Amino acid sequence: MNTATSIEYVHGYSERESHRLGDQADTLAELLHEGTAYPAGSRVLEAGCGVGAQTVHLAASSPGATIIAVDHSAASLAQARDRVTAHAPGSEVEWRHADLLDLPFPDAAVDHAFVCFVLEHLADPARALAELRRVLRPGGTLTVIEGDHGSALFHPDGAAARAVIDCQVRLQAASGGDALLGRRLQPLLSAAGYTEVRVRPRTVYADRARPALVEGFTRHTFIAMVESVRADALAAGLITGSAWDRGIAELRRAADPDGTFHYTFFKAVAVNP
Ligand SMILES: C[S@@+](CC[C@H](N)C(=O)[O-])C[C@H]1O[C@@H](n2cnc3c(N)ncnc32)[C@H](O)[C@@H]1O
Repeated sequence: MNTATSIEYVHGYSERESHRLGDQADTLAELLHEGTAYPAGSRVLEAGCGVGAQTVHLAASSPGATIIAVDHSAASLAQARDRVTAHAPGSEVEWRHADLLDLPFPDAAVDHAFVCFVLEHLADPARALAELRRVLRPGGTLTVIEGDHGSALFHPDGAAARAVIDCQVRLQAASGGDALLGRRLQPLLSAAGYTEVRVRPRTVYADRARPALVEGFTRHTFIAMVESVRADALAAGLITGSAWDRGIAELRRAADPDGTFHYTFFKAVAVNP
């Protein structure tokens, strides 16, 4: 699994999770990647590339740039390579099996860095931001996209549904992460010494008028993510099996024809001075 560090990833590395990351990236590509394009000839580090779900979109938006994709899961990197070969053939991607807290690059080695859904899983995101600054050239940019489960608003609302989302937040915290990190991006990046920090919320809102988002985001990204931690939540004693099943059933109503779902991602762009 992961040889370079002992940090656990709360969602795991199953085939189901790999599909979920792909659905998430493809459904949200326009929303999240809008405004992100790197000049031809630039070297762009993607830290925590996972199964390459964002890599294919990065490569497509920045033809001529070289993406250096890093992850500490060798299995995810292998899947990422297959995904890029299938979906973005001919793109320039270098693959590195490494820990983003201890990158195998000299100072100022890359022009830009891109990080998506990674800081929220780290016990020490400030350390990751410092290491990214070390390898970024002066004047280079850092783009970070993170979620924030506190932004989940849905109809019909219900305490049972909120309880299962809360299990996910608590499990992530127990593994050292922070599922509410999105709202902290501005202070985190500023404290790490980045300048010109600009954070823009990117909101997903799905109702019956947006059936592709109901399917791709509400069902296959958000609810699938919460559902995937059932065994861990029960094992940790956070909830009973029947309360869990009630909560998931309640949450699924947000994807019914009379349901709605809202979630905000936070996208930060900053400069390494
Ligand atoms: C939620 S996944 C996101 C993957 C991808 N960025 C995406 O948006 O689909 C988080 C990824 O970060 C990787 N990761 C977590 N900690 C890491 C570390 N210290 N070094 C390298 N990769 C790490 C995990 O292996 C996992 O692939």
